[in-house]
Amino acid sequence: MQTEPDGMSIDEVHLVREQFIDAAVSAEKAGFDGVQLHIAHFFFLSRFVSPAVNHREDDYGGSIAGRTRLVLEILSGIKSAAPSLHITAKVNSSDFTYGGITEKDCVEICSLLDEAGINSIEVSGNGTSVGGVRAHQNEGYFVPAAAAVAEAVRCPVIAVGGFRSLDFMEEVLNKTKINFISLSRPLLREPDLPLKMKQDANYISKCVSCNACYSSEAHKCIFRGRSENNA
Ligand SMILES: Cc1cc2nc3c(=O)[nH]c(=O)nc-3n(C[C@H](O)[C@H](O)[C@H](O)COP(=O)(O)O)c2cc1C
Ligand code: SF4
Repeated sequence: MQTEPDGMSIDEVHLVREQFIDAAVSAEKAGFDGVQLHIAHFFFLSRFVSPAVNHREDDYGGSIAGRTRLVLEILSGIKSAAPSLHITAKVNSSDFTYGGITEKDCVEICSLLDEAGINSIEVSGNGTSVGGVRAHQNEGYFVPAAAAVAEAVRCPVIAVGGFRSLDFMEEVLNKTKINFISLSRPLLREPDLPLKMKQDANYISKCVSCNACYSSEAHKCIFRGRSENNA
């Protein structure tokens, strides 16, 4: 079976749509609260909505509406088949690829998702884990794109990417319509980081954004457990 957008027959597109819906139904049966439609980082759905990858000339290609049709059909199918689930989407603010999704396209895609009843949207981008992020210096690299999405949609918007200090997170939440912040590497570095920040508002993440956890066993932070103070 073809899994690249251009090579898939209509039957294959419909089969994948049903597989996404079936997976969500299984998640609901297993007791999960929600599922995420991953439309980012050039995984399958992200490639399907991208004009750099999807050159189809049928109903599932062409315009933004055409390229987003499969995602919207999956969303609608999950809402009918597994109504208790929170359905979130992780989207690319930009593909950072010639001919790919731009921030303006992202706002349009998010508006379509919002109108179709998505429950929340997390705004990311290709090259998701930017290196060398430092607290108070270069935090929150997708914030402008997430803020633009938050201006355009009614559902809650989640910002992800390079948050390392509580005051920066609070500034983003106070100055934009962004509703939530996601953390990834800081929690690999210090799983109890939120607790530490709750106890000391000036505490900053020890993650140095070296990205070594991408290639470590079980994605462990390579600095964890090296010494008592570095835990
Ligand atoms: C080891 C590792 C694995 C990751 N795997 C995924 C993944 O499977 N899906 C995803 O959407 N993002 C994944 N990410 C990206 C994070 O979810 C997040 O978007 C990114 O690291 C930026 O946020 P941060 O600065 O808080 O780490 C991964 C990140 C790391 C470090
Ligand atoms: S290895 Fe540790 S310090 Fe480096 S990016 Fe991953 S979590 Fe951060």
